[in-house]
Amino acid sequence: MTDFQSIFWNYWIAIIVIGGIVAMTLLLMSQGVVKLKKGENADVTGHKWDGDLEEFNNPLPGWWVMMFYMTIVFGIVYLVLYPGIWGGMWKWTSSNQYGKEVAQANSKYQGLYDKYSAMPIAAIAQNQEAKDMGKRLFLTYCIQCHGADARGAKGFPNLTDGDWLYGGSPEKILETIANGRHGQMPAWGAVFGEEKVKDVANYVLQLAGKPRNELRATRGAETFKQTCVACHGAEGKGNQDLGAPNLTDNTWLYGGSEATIIETITNGRSNVMPAWKEFLGDAKVHLLAGYVYSLSNNEKAK
Ligand code: HEC
Ligand code: HEC
Repeated sequence: MTDFQSIFWNYWIAIIVIGGIVAMTLLLMSQGVVKLKKGENADVTGHKWDGDLEEFNNPLPGWWVMMFYMTIVFGIVYLVLYPGIWGGMWKWTSSNQYGKEVAQANSKYQGLYDKYSAMPIAAIAQNQEAKDMGKRLFLTYCIQCHGADARGAKGFPNLTDGDWLYGGSPEKILETIANGRHGQMPAWGAVFGEEKVKDVANYVLQLAGKPRNELRATRGAETFKQTCVACHGAEGKGNQDLGAPNLTDNTWLYGGSEATIIETITNGRSNVMPAWKEFLGDAKVHLLAGYVYSLSNNEKAK
C-alpha cells in the first residue's frame, strides 16, 4: 500500500521529468546552430578581460554534445523500462525485488530451519550453531522489550533468571512466543479504598519477607484470602496458568517497594507479550524458544 493515494503527484513528477527532457533537448539543438568551416574563426561575444582576453562564440564540442544526447537517450530508455512515469516495461518494483530476495534466502536457509525444527528445544539449547541463529533472531525481534541481555526491565520479564510467569519448560516457552500472552491483574482501588489497599500491600510485603507494618499485614491477610488467592494461590506462590506471579520470591515484574505494590493493587496491570507465530513462522519461533530456554538452562544458571 502506498501512502500517496492522490494521482496529483504522478502528474507533478511526469510534467517535471518530461518537461526537463524536452527543454534540455531543445537547448542542445539551439546550441548546434552555429557551424564553422575549417579555418574560420567564430565571432567574438564582446566580453573582454584584462584588455585583450576575448571570449569567442565557439560552437559546443561535438563529442560533448554527443554525450549529452546519450544521457538523454539513456534517461528515456530508463523511463520506459523502469517505473517512473508509468509502471515500466520490466514491471520492476522494490517490493517484488525484496520478495525475490527473501524467497532466495528462504530456499538457502530452509534446509537449516528444517533440520532445527525437527530437533527438540532442549537440544537446540545445547547446539551452538542453532543457539547463534536463535540469538540473532532475538537481537532483531525481542530486545526492544526484553533487552539485549534478555534481563528485561520494569514490566518486561527477565528471561535469564529461571523465574517464570507462564512456565519455563520448553513447551511453555514455545507456547508463550508462538501465541503471545496477556497478563491481567485486576484493579482493586475502587473496590477496597486506600486503607484496605495499604493493608493488603503490607501483607504482600510479609509474603516476600520484607519489612512491613504488622498490624496492617494481619488485616491484609484476610483480604488476600478472600480475593487474591484465586489467582496468586493460597500461599501467594502464583499460578503459571494465569500468569499470576509468585509474590513470595522477591523477583518483581513491577517492583517490590510498598509504593509500587500499592500502585499495582490500586490500578491493576495489563501487559501484553505479542504473538510471533504468524509473523515469524514455526521454524523461527522454535529456534527462539531454544535460545530462550538456553538462557536459564546452562551451566552458569544451575
Ligand atoms: C512489545 C514488547 C515485547 C516484545 C517485542 C517481546 N516481548 Fe516477550 N514479553 C513481553 C511482556 C510485556 C511479557 C510479560 C507478559 C505478562 O506480563 O503477562 C513478555 C513475556 C515473555 C515471556 C514469558 C516470560 C515468563 O516469565 O513466563 C517469554 C518467554 C518472552 N516474552 C519471549 C520473547 C521473545 C522470544 C521475543 C522475541 C520474539 C519477545 N518476547 C518479544 C513483551 C515483549
Ligand atoms: C484475576 C487474577 C488475579 C487476581 C484476583 C489478583 N491478581 Fe495480582 N496479578 C495477576 C496477574 C496476572 C499479574 C501479572 C500482571 C502482568 O503480567 O502484568 C498480577 C500481578 C500482581 C502484582 C505484581 C507483582 C510483581 O512482580 O510486580 C502484585 C503485587 C499483585 N498482583 C498483588 C495482588 C493482590 C494483593 C491481589 C488481591 C487484592 C491480587 N493481586 C489479585 C492476577 C491476579
